[in-house]
Amino acid sequence: MNSAEIRQRFLKFFEERGHVVIPSASLVPEGDSSVLFTTAGMQQFKPYYIGKANAQKDFGSLNTVSIQKCVRTSDIEEVGDESHLTFFEMLGNFSFGGYWKKEAIEWAYEFITKDLGLQIDFVSVFGGEAEVPEDKESREIWKSIDPNITVKKFGRADNFWGPTGEEGPCGPTTEIYVNGIEIWNIVFNEFYQSRDKTLKLLEVKGVDTGMGLERLVKVIQKTPTVFETDLFESIMKAAGSRIVADHVRTSCFIITDGVVPSNTDRGYILRRLLRRAYIKNKNVNLVVDAVIINPSYNGLYIFAPNIKEVVTQELEKFEKALNAGLKQVEKGADPFVLFTSYGLPLEIIEEVTTIDKEKFMKQIKEHKQLSTERGSQKFKK
Ligand code: SER
Repeated sequence: MNSAEIRQRFLKFFEERGHVVIPSASLVPEGDSSVLFTTAGMQQFKPYYIGKANAQKDFGSLNTVSIQKCVRTSDIEEVGDESHLTFFEMLGNFSFGGYWKKEAIEWAYEFITKDLGLQIDFVSVFGGEAEVPEDKESREIWKSIDPNITVKKFGRADNFWGPTGEEGPCGPTTEIYVNGIEIWNIVFNEFYQSRDKTLKLLEVKGVDTGMGLERLVKVIQKTPTVFETDLFESIMKAAGSRIVADHVRTSCFIITDGVVPSNTDRGYILRRLLRRAYIKNKNVNLVVDAVIINPSYNGLYIFAPNIKEVVTQELEKFEKALNAGLKQVEKGADPFVLFTSYGLPLEIIEEVTTIDKEKFMKQIKEHKQLSTERGSQKFKK
């Protein structure tokens, strides 16, 4: 089964069970300044969980299903990690006061075991922590479906989700493990967490599920990692390494949603992704082509000219800055000039030169302090 079929099956399964299909929201969250990028399927539905919008009125149903594009770069320094994807798609079904635990769990079980023919290793439920009690109801539902299923109990770190950003809906989860990995997270949104971290019961209970497409495809296609699935196969051929494949794929989607490289926020993440990819593989443009022609991403095709233009311009600029900076270093300048005068991030300087990291970090710290002081002086004027 290829990834396009998996997406379609998921949508169809929930559509047949009273869910309205909603397109993916943009990667740039609208009206939610607490996060840089969309990080979960539920994000576009936040107002419906907290009673600020009415799903019945807007969608004609209390239940929706979507495949959401997500970008997660919780810590910018982690960008480039071999084991994490910065972009992924999340399959999710949602309810805003419609169904509750029984239907959510039964449908998840049915979809995984019958439609996809996968075998569940075990499931987990919230074991209770602080003021939130153990989720006995979910355990009983799992046992009523399959008395032999192993139900593990985990605490807040594993089986409690949300909120996205500083505040919002959140709640205990039940999670499904297949082939040793957690593939489906079913969140029972019962609470609203405020900025001061206190929890209040929500007036309407909601269901928010999230199943990462890449992981699911890996399990179904029985590949060693996500990078051998049909989502990545052709991209890997052009990219040569996981980091390049990941970063270029993510960049294509970010650009499609209107982000351009810059020195702040989203633009800076895009800049870092593209520069890092370029350092590892000068043929970023060929990797861009491989992403665009991947049949699983046929929606990107119409954005191809824009994606290519943004990537080419950014990398031409970067190549010039990099070469000019490296020439200075060859002539004996401290690699620190790459940071101060050419604006290259530390991780890139580390890759292209040899540096004394401790000394370098000290220099960066002093430099930052100085620029902040200068900045605040400017502000005062
Ligand atoms: N919001 C939860 C998650 O991201 C479930 O969708 O895992």
